[in-house]
Parts: sequence; structure tokens; C-alpha cells
Amino acid sequence: MRTHYCAEVNEEHIGQTITISGWVASRRDHGGVIFIDLRDKDEVLQLVCDPADNADAHKVAEEVRDQFVLIATGKVRARGEGLENPNLKTGKVEIVVDELIIENRSLPMPFDIGDEKVNEEIRLKYRYLELRSQKSYDIFKLRSKATIATRNSLDELGFLEVETPILTKSTPEGARDYLVPSRVHGGEFYALPQSPQLFKQLLMVSGFDRYFQIAKCFRDEDLRADRQPEFTQIDVEMSFCDQEDVIKVAEKLINDIFTKCGFSIPSTFKRMTHREAMEKYGSDKPDMRYDMAMVDVIDIFERCDNEIFSNIARTPRKNRIKALKVPNGDNIFSKRQMKGFEDYVRKFGAQGLGYFQMKEDGLKGPLTKFFTEDDIQAIIDRCKLEVGDVVFFGAGEKKTVLDYMGRFRIYLAEIMEIIPEDTFEFLWVVDFPMFEVEEGKVKALHHPFTMPKLSENGTLDYEDIEDIESIAYDIVLNGTELGGGSIRVHKEAIQAEIFKLLGIDEEEAQEKFGFLLDALKFGAPPHGGFAMGLDRMIMLMTGSESIRDVIAFPKTQRAQCLLTQAPSPADSEQLKELSLRIRQQAPTA
Ligand code: AMO
Repeated sequence: MRTHYCAEVNEEHIGQTITISGWVASRRDHGGVIFIDLRDKDEVLQLVCDPADNADAHKVAEEVRDQFVLIATGKVRARGEGLENPNLKTGKVEIVVDELIIENRSLPMPFDIGDEKVNEEIRLKYRYLELRSQKSYDIFKLRSKATIATRNSLDELGFLEVETPILTKSTPEGARDYLVPSRVHGGEFYALPQSPQLFKQLLMVSGFDRYFQIAKCFRDEDLRADRQPEFTQIDVEMSFCDQEDVIKVAEKLINDIFTKCGFSIPSTFKRMTHREAMEKYGSDKPDMRYDMAMVDVIDIFERCDNEIFSNIARTPRKNRIKALKVPNGDNIFSKRQMKGFEDYVRKFGAQGLGYFQMKEDGLKGPLTKFFTEDDIQAIIDRCKLEVGDVVFFGAGEKKTVLDYMGRFRIYLAEIMEIIPEDTFEFLWVVDFPMFEVEEGKVKALHHPFTMPKLSENGTLDYEDIEDIESIAYDIVLNGTELGGGSIRVHKEAIQAEIFKLLGIDEEEAQEKFGFLLDALKFGAPPHGGFAMGLDRMIMLMTGSESIRDVIAFPKTQRAQCLLTQAPSPADSEQLKELSLRIRQQAPTA
């Protein structure tokens, strides 16, 4: 139904008769002569229907409306002088139509294709029309390039692509499971995988040595701009490796993907320990496109004459006093803005927000009176203050201060518009803590199969459980967690000890992950790996604001598919077959 795609047609074809097919992007009637922009997957070509050339084709063109499907045959000719369109690959030519077939008609569009201001509900309901836009096509073209590059890169490195089950048992990634009722085993459920974690470890026990999968994962969790209930991971696992080996593979893979997609990135990435990331940036995924690192000033505040601060400073293990310098902030922020900043940090648990301003005649601010001359100088030196700078202080309990000062850093960078676009700053965050304590409960920060750093005698010695580090690492890109992984526990005794510390008793461990624990007893090799969010990667590559833009048929923030109306009630016959009864109608959206 075509001799050429639109994008292929150029001045070389002048004089040739060709056939193209596609959708009407626009139609203009210029007093007799009708111009139609016909669009196929990735370009527009202008059709000219002149009654003087061909009366039949012109007659058909009179009926044509937006988004009709046409097949047009005609001769390529150069556009008239001054009528060229430099924005199109095909902008120097047009087709004088000999034969025009309306292959299909279209209802009027519910919205203008390509108009991003249209309410998202309508766009998602008619997602197939939104995908007809050039922008969407370009996103999915890039996504396809990225997955093909992934396969080629990992194939070259000797990785085997293996599919793992979708109907399975709960996997421990910390979100709620999506459950699927079994018809054959009434009252029992499969869980959809939150990741292929357990299966990829089993494949290492099988001796597959190097596995990968472009894997669908399912997590029932609160959705945000970079989260979907159903998403895709590039999932990798390898045997007889240490952290360096895994990092090398990940860097090579990311380089291959970005290069194939047309971006140039460094061959190796910077690294930072989790502790440094938290202390300097208040985040385990700091955005390294700008610096604005926090500085510790707790020792200086300990000597000050203000009881609130000196009290906080007296327990430096539990508390933090952090300074955040904004170069030239004194000239950038209005008084009102400075007040607004305090309201901002209060939302995240701050008691207040102190600040100093570096003026021509020295450091000024409501707090200076509490410090000696020497300590004022110490603040200036420690924060490297110059005239015009403002420095903010957060003081209080460690986790709270790091959290709100970290958020405040991002907030300031955003309002000052200092974050460069079109750059990729990768960072490895390494040495994650093994455990975190939340409301008195010990939890695994990554997952319970992560290898902890053992003491020299090969045991887990610790004073504070949160001080135990693990051989776990995250890949951060422009302040977004792109991926993560770890070296895994391959020995049963360490695994048992970790479960004990997590408060998982033997029976529960056996019930949940018995199959993995059994496998570890049959000659499990040392192994480790990582997984990267493919959707997030494409989102960052394309500068998309929402992960929904890079998923063909995404769900809303409330986990619904507006196109198919899923989820939807099941009929009573189906429920009966599945041994299910609905006790109470779920609240509607
Ligand atoms: P993790 O849970 O960190 O690790 O997931 C890896 C990456 O998957 C992406 N991701 C998501 N993307 C979109 N929507 C979501 N709801 C979502 N959740 C996660 C992120 C994240 O960095 N099994 C381990 C990996 C390993 O240890 O090998 C795992 O799943 O980009």
C-alpha cells in the first residue's frame, strides 16, 4: 500500500510517481487547490490536489477530514520558491496527487493530537490517539533502541536471557503484592513478582553463571511521577563476582545503551558512600548536577551561648547541626522568600530555620550574638563564606535534619534554576546500611538476601544494628534512583542470622523463602547483581515529566487503566469458580 515512507521522500525522487499512506495531520483548502499534510509513523509529506491536474482526486480530497486514513499516488515535484518548509525532512518536495483513496474515516478527535495541555484523563482514555503523536513515537523508538542495545550488550558479555514466572510467590521488595486467585486451588493465591530476585538467585545455583531479563515487575505501592504499579526492569545476576565485577558490567551496559540512543556519557561513574551522601546531601540519591553540599557545624554550635543549640550539639551521635550555603543568596532572595523557607522546612519536621548573611562588614543574623568572634570566624571559614552569601542552619534529631535539609537543598536549586538540563550525572552510592530501624522494628534496607559486611572473624559484630554495612549499591542518575543491587548471601548460616535479626523465625522464613534457603544448601556459588528501572531510564533520557509518558499503556496515579477500565468487577460466575465472595464493595475512585 506504499512505495515509500514519507521520511524517505526527497529531491532525488522529483519526477517519480510514488504511493504513500498515512493519516491526515491537516487539510487546507486554498480556493480550489487542497493541500493535505499526510503523516505516517515519523514524518509528514504534503499532498497537492489541484482540480486542474486531476478532478477525481480533488473531489475525493474535498471529503477528507483530519485523521482520515489515505493512500495517495502521485508525482513528486519541488515546492515552489519560498514555499519550502525547513522543519520537515520532506520540506522541499510535495506530491501532485493522481489517485486518492480514503481507506478509512475517523470521528472528530476528542483532543488535538500532540496537545499536552489536555487533561490527562482524556489523553489516557484515548491513549492510542496520544501515541499517534510524533513525540510519543520518538519516545518508543528510543525505548526500543534501548532494549535492543541491552540485549546486544549483555549477549556480548556472555549473559543468558531467561524468563522467570509471573504467576509466583511473594518476592521481598517491600511493597504490597498483587494477588491472583487460583481456580484449581480454591482459596489459594499466586503473587505477581515484585522483581525476579529469588529466581535469578536460583539460576545462579543452577550454574547459569550470567543471567539477564527485561522483566515486568508488579508492586502495589503509592504511585508518584516516577512509579507505576507495573514496570520494567533490566535485571542482571552473575556468579563468582565481587562488587567491582558487577559495577563494571553495569557501567558497560549503561554506556552501550546510552551510546546507541545517541548520548555521550562517561565510561565510569563517580562513587560516594551512603554515609557521605546522607551527611552532605541529606539523600541516598543526591543530584550531582549541582553541588550545594551541607557542612557539619555541630562542634562550633556546641560552644555557643544558646542553650537550645548547645544542648542539641552535646549529643552528636543522635543529632546534627548542618549548614547549607547559598552563594550570593543575600542578593537573590527577598525577605518574604526567606520567611517562606522556614515554612517549607517546617513541613518536614524542622523546629525552625536559622540563617546568617555574609555582609561587607561581617557575618550578620539573629544568631550571631551567641557566638564568640573566633567561632564566627570558624563558621565563615568552614562554610567558605564570601560577601553576599547566605548560610542556613538546620538543627535537631539526625534523620529529621538530614531529611529536611536535603529537601531544602533541592527546593533552593529548583527555585534558583541552577540545575543544568541535558546533562547526565551518574553516581554510585555504595556501602548502604544493612538494616534500618523503623518504629522499633528492624527492616532490611535493600532485601534480606543482601550480603552484610562481616567483621574480620567472619561474623556480624555490631554495637548499633544500623551501623552494619552491606555490599549493596545504587545507581543514581540526576537525583533519581535508576537501579540498585548487591552481592547476595550464599551461605545458609549468615542467611539464618539475618533472618534472626529481622525477627523472621525459622518457620516464617521456611514458609516464605524455603525454596531459596533449600537451594543455598546445594552448592550455591558466590553471586550478585543489579536491576535498573527501564521506564525511569527512558524517562530521564527523553526529559519526560512523568513515567506514564514512556509506558505504552500506563495506569493513573490511582492504579487504573482508563482505556480498558481495569480494574473492573468480576461477574458472579467467575467469582464462584475462584471460590471468592465480595464482602463489601471496594470504595470507588
Ligand atoms: P529495586 O527495588 O531497587 O531492586 O528496583 C530496581 C529499580 O527498579 C525501578 N523501580 C520502579 N520503577 C517504576 N515504578 C516502580 N514502582 C518501581 N519500583 C522500582 C527503580 C529501581 O531502582 N531485586 C532488586 C535488584 C537487585 O538487588 O538485583 C530490586 O528489585 O529504577
